[in-house]
Amino acid sequence: MITKNITPSVYYTGVDDHTTPLFESLWPLPYGVTYNSYIVKGEATALIDTAELNSYEAYLSNLLNHGIDAPEYLIINHMEPDHSGCIPLLCERFPKMKIVGNRLTVGMIKGYYHIEDDTRYLVVKDGDTLDLGAGRVLSFHTIPMVHWPETMVTWLESEGVLFSGDAFGTFGTTDGNPIDEHLPGIDVFMSEMHRYYACIVAKYADQVQRALTKLADKEIKYICSTHGPVWHKHVAEVIATYNALSTYKVEPGVVIAYGSMYGNTTEMAQLLAERLEAAGITVKLHNMSNTNLSFVLADIWRYNGLIIGAPTYNGAVFPPVAALLSALEGRGLRNHVAAAFGSFTWAGAACKKIAEALAGLSLDMPAAPVEMKMSMNPATRAALIEMADTLVPAILAE
Ligand code: FEO
Repeated sequence: MITKNITPSVYYTGVDDHTTPLFESLWPLPYGVTYNSYIVKGEATALIDTAELNSYEAYLSNLLNHGIDAPEYLIINHMEPDHSGCIPLLCERFPKMKIVGNRLTVGMIKGYYHIEDDTRYLVVKDGDTLDLGAGRVLSFHTIPMVHWPETMVTWLESEGVLFSGDAFGTFGTTDGNPIDEHLPGIDVFMSEMHRYYACIVAKYADQVQRALTKLADKEIKYICSTHGPVWHKHVAEVIATYNALSTYKVEPGVVIAYGSMYGNTTEMAQLLAERLEAAGITVKLHNMSNTNLSFVLADIWRYNGLIIGAPTYNGAVFPPVAALLSALEGRGLRNHVAAAFGSFTWAGAACKKIAEALAGLSLDMPAAPVEMKMSMNPATRAALIEMADTLVPAILAE
């Protein structure tokens, strides 16, 4: 069943994007992405968030098809251009429409879109309300850094609808059928939620926790995020998922992320994988040269074990693995059992630098790093087996 009516006063006006290859020009979109936006109708009408600029025609068409010709308000929960991109064109189209946002939001609109006329804005603070009439009252609640400083959520108490911005969002299009209980393949969206979180939100885990605490007293019936399905049937599950992700509640298992130019470091990674799998541990083996970083990050935020290995390259870590280390440092990875291995031909550097990077994140590192010269030999084999055997109880202890 296809329905875009979320509740009697809330209507979905989002757009499916099947053509953009990389979200934020970084993250692959094998299932596409949506830019979700909504209408709330009381006696007055409010639009909530817009869409990416290239989707303007489709977005406007959705509004016009719903009879929107003079909305009173445009509420901006989040200013990243995938949601704010249509603000200027929409303001031209609806010259009497007020833009509703907090002080930081208004500063960003002026900075990005140069809408300087202050009479266009209705500036709100944390906890302020906006009465649309007919019993529809919206309230605004700031959730800074989930995922920009200005971000807020909008709450419609009368129907239990939370307009959550990026929070609880996920990659994947809904193809005109936005509500979760009508969508096939919900497992893909849940899996993509891990990848979305690990790539985009993970740095702000503490702020996500603060946001969840702030929203805990609300009886949420619908979560209208800016990406992916409208959550209704799965509200409790997605809140639990966000709680688990932002508190690093990871499952037992190991990601082995490695680089290798000629197969020698691959041999080290495979030996570790075989030994750990033989001990009954789930292993995700990722060659960083041919796996997009986003899928590796998603697995790292799912499992509690992390082993990283690379050859030495220009006196440093092989670049695809160095990119992973940088991504982990940027996100402040926590609560993992970690280990390092590496290889070299004439002067070792990678193994030491990987171990230092992991130690810099204050991860639990019970096993000694293993460094190999040129190719596999009995001493390296024995050291890797010892590494795996040392990690097993630490991983299974979760
Ligand atoms: Fe979907 Fe942070 O924008």
